[in-house]
Amino acid sequence: MFPGTRLRRLRSNRTIRQIVSENTLTPNDLIAPIFVNETLKAPTEVSSMPGVISQTPESIMGEAKRLEDLSLPAILLFGIPSKKDEQGTQAWDPDGVIQRSIRNIKDKSDLTIIADLCLCEYTSHGHCGVLKNGTVDNDSTLELYARTAIAQAEAGADIVAPSGMMDGQVLAIREALDGEGYENVAIMSYSAKYASSFYGPFRDAAMSTPSSGDRRTHQMNPANRREAMREIGADLYEGADIVMVKPALAYLDIIAEARNMFDAPLAAYQVSGEYAMIKAAGINGWLDSEAAMMESLLSIKRAGADMIITYFAANAAKLLKSD
Ligand code: PBG
Repeated sequence: MFPGTRLRRLRSNRTIRQIVSENTLTPNDLIAPIFVNETLKAPTEVSSMPGVISQTPESIMGEAKRLEDLSLPAILLFGIPSKKDEQGTQAWDPDGVIQRSIRNIKDKSDLTIIADLCLCEYTSHGHCGVLKNGTVDNDSTLELYARTAIAQAEAGADIVAPSGMMDGQVLAIREALDGEGYENVAIMSYSAKYASSFYGPFRDAAMSTPSSGDRRTHQMNPANRREAMREIGADLYEGADIVMVKPALAYLDIIAEARNMFDAPLAAYQVSGEYAMIKAAGINGWLDSEAAMMESLLSIKRAGADMIITYFAANAAKLLKSD
């Protein structure tokens, strides 16, 4: 045997494996998504996501404290309003569910507050923007995103996260924020967001399944890799501070490519369906769901993500703290 082919030497015990470990996961890497649902009287478990609890604009206060105590640095808020309409006006209402929730937790903790910015949870038809001739109209939607960004910043969001995949959304939001004096509010853009079947459980939780059609005229075709780099490049050019690839596990090649091509902070979103798969198999006794959770998170980190948005955030942080 050639001496250099003896690779098992450095795997022979736990501590030697530790010193040659190329990647590590810490709670600092994790962002917890939270559903805040105005139609609920009390926190309620999402049926397709066992262990994920939708909060009320009041219960979010205790939840934020719990997550901060686990050393998590940031939360990503999704609002589900009690009233939906054609335009999704609750998205930018100063008393809308997200704005109220942000005000309730702001200044009570050091958590970075990220507000998801889309209209699909707020429109009666469940589409991400203004419908014209049966399709989502790009430019009139941008105006509503700009209004929503200002309302979220005004309530105290540190970061706004446009997830609608409209062309030009980052520039429209950046200009609107700067115009109102919110230069310090950052933009985390869902840059390469694919039209994925892995969003199914989220749409249950957010009650945002489109009443007709799908999102393929704006979300990306899963067949495309180069196009994702064009999307990320465009968002950075428009002023995005953090770019994102979503989903994560089925798109690790996109994360790795983005890491190679761009220096900007890169987020990956381990979405609802990825969570549900691992959870369901665990509940059935088909795999060890905690081990699978940690392995999936580490592989997203290894692919090149600087931060991971995951419904496992609290669970993983707990395990990492007790290591
Ligand atoms: C849109 C949005 C979606 C997700 C995050 N933001 C749903 C969609 O595009 O239909 C999905 C997240 C997940 O599945 O966990 N506001």
